[in-house]
Amino acid sequence: MNTFAGSPLREYGLPWSDYELLDAGDGKKLERWGEIITIRPDLQANFKSNLLYIEWLEMANWEFEEQSSIQGFWKNIKAHSPEQWMISYGKLNFNLKLTKFKHVGLFPEQQDNWRFIQEQVNPGQKILNLFAYTGAASLVARANGAEVVHVDSIKQMLTWANNNMERSSLSDIKWVLEDALKFAQRELKRGNKYDGIIMDPPAWGLGAKGEKWKLENHLASLIAIAHDLMNPKAFLILNTYSPKVTLADLAEAAEQTFSATEIDIKQLWMPAKTGNELFCGNLLRVIR
Ligand SMILES: C[S@@+](CC[C@H](N)C(=O)[O-])C[C@H]1O[C@@H](n2cnc3c(N)ncnc32)[C@H](O)[C@@H]1O
Repeated sequence: MNTFAGSPLREYGLPWSDYELLDAGDGKKLERWGEIITIRPDLQANFKSNLLYIEWLEMANWEFEEQSSIQGFWKNIKAHSPEQWMISYGKLNFNLKLTKFKHVGLFPEQQDNWRFIQEQVNPGQKILNLFAYTGAASLVARANGAEVVHVDSIKQMLTWANNNMERSSLSDIKWVLEDALKFAQRELKRGNKYDGIIMDPPAWGLGAKGEKWKLENHLASLIAIAHDLMNPKAFLILNTYSPKVTLADLAEAAEQTFSATEIDIKQLWMPAKTGNELFCGNLLRVIR
């Protein structure tokens, strides 16, 4: 296992039949989701794109226009383009739809973690997915025969995830509408333990009862409680997208709780078809 010292190792979310980062640059990215091509802003695309914008517009169905740092609207580029559609990842099926938050229902760079979960998870194991969104990681673990607890603070996300589960002919994922930290603390009191913990917190968020929180204020407690909920032979995945949480912060917080030999600290990148590479966040993995 590598430690943080020295060059951060890049980890790549790879394209698959139904998703591809076609190009990126000039603060935007061009992505193919099955048949549908979108243009979305991305602060990390702070380099020149390899294709001209006019070439992007010739391919795209939709472009997201930001109205504020958190909201905006989708501009239709190609007539009769659907606002909802479905894509697959292996045997799993995901409903995608245009949201006013620029998201469409899947974080494709997470493909790197889905691969890891497929390698790590065995039938009958217990997996806790916190900040679980539309459930891609939950479905990957469930498809491997795990018992999965899926926690998110937004009801619509649980409904969307349940829809993805049914579309993927899976069942029996436990949906929990709760603040992630509060749920984890209650699980600790109950004495529950897990064979795998997946956490993908946003940079800032709202708990189920509107509790405002910022990742940088909770990083150490999230890692510490994950440690206490892990079985002796368990894994942990923690992604961070926050500019306020650097790779060094993640390593420091992890090394306060886990031994250096158990820790893997990486940067998550997505390669574009035209050769650019897009930074998608930092990644802590712990394998015991
Ligand atoms: C970045 S997304 C997670 C993406 C997901 N891991 C994936 O790969 O599909 C963050 C999710 O955390 C949820 N969230 C934000 N604050 C939360 C909190 N305090 N407790 C639980 N969920 C929260 C949001 O509703 C959102 O669905």
